[in-house]
Amino acid sequence: MTVLEAIQKSTEFLTKKGVESPRLQTELLLAHLLKLPRMKLYLNFERALSPTETNALREFVKRRGQREPLQHITGSTSFCGHEIAVSRHALIPRPETELLAELGWKFLVTRHSSLVTALDFGTGTGCIAIAIAAKCPEAKITALDISSETLALAKLNALQNQVAEQIDFLLGNGFGALTAGTQFDLIVSNPPYIASAEIETLEPEVKDFDPRGALDGGADGLVFYRRLAAEAKPYLKADGKIMLEFGDGQADAIKRIFENEKWIVEAVQDDYSQRARILIAHK
Ligand SMILES: C[S@@+](CC[C@H](N)C(=O)[O-])C[C@H]1O[C@@H](n2cnc3c(N)ncnc32)[C@H](O)[C@@H]1O
Repeated sequence: MTVLEAIQKSTEFLTKKGVESPRLQTELLLAHLLKLPRMKLYLNFERALSPTETNALREFVKRRGQREPLQHITGSTSFCGHEIAVSRHALIPRPETELLAELGWKFLVTRHSSLVTALDFGTGTGCIAIAIAAKCPEAKITALDISSETLALAKLNALQNQVAEQIDFLLGNGFGALTAGTQFDLIVSNPPYIASAEIETLEPEVKDFDPRGALDGGADGLVFYRRLAAEAKPYLKADGKIMLEFGDGQADAIKRIFENEKWIVEAVQDDYSQRARILIAHK
């Protein structure tokens, strides 16, 4: 079978399985398998696949047809230019979260202090903490998560991205895990924000593969925002900022939650698809 034939056959299979962008997904799997940039496939359409390559591709495409996310099959994803390993223990980093990391490091670099600190509440793969650490070499970041398996993955990612020395990994349930009196320049979080009953309606790639603890935001999806609004202030410096990602349609409710707890909401920022996505507030 040639590269072109493999692309056509696999695309047809993934289309039948209801996978979005089946041709792109096929090309990404094949490029990963052949260790080629995707565009190079186009220069190799007539190349014959070896039996080993054919079998490996068949296995990859079968898994993708069962709606396993591409990133779990390839083992990693890119976040702010960093390669981040993924597994069943953590949410796959989403492109819109790159904006949160960017707003975080842009704020920290304005701090002109020899020691700036940030808390990444619910660090998952560690993607936000790693991106901020890499852009602010003077920053110390606490990466908090409730799951030890998740935290182990975040540590591995920090090591592989050469920023482990800047990050303290903390296992615990919310702010209770922190030493009393600790205060950060920045608290950043992409907390679980899907309403519990909505999880079952999500695409199989999400509901069957992202950990439930990374998705479930309680009955109305807003449990973590109430908790952050009520509990974060003592952990934030007087001129520090909190930056939080949230889901579609949640902006007004979250703004209200923060204002009711006497936060000053500075901005609700759109993502690159013009959807309100990030709340920025201070004490
Ligand atoms: C939506 S994921 C975000 C992961 C990562 N920050 C990202 O943006 O890709 C939320 C994370 O919060 C963690 N988490 C959930 N409840 C928590 C709690 N009570 N305390 C600390 N972390 C928690 C989950 O384990 C999960 O890793």
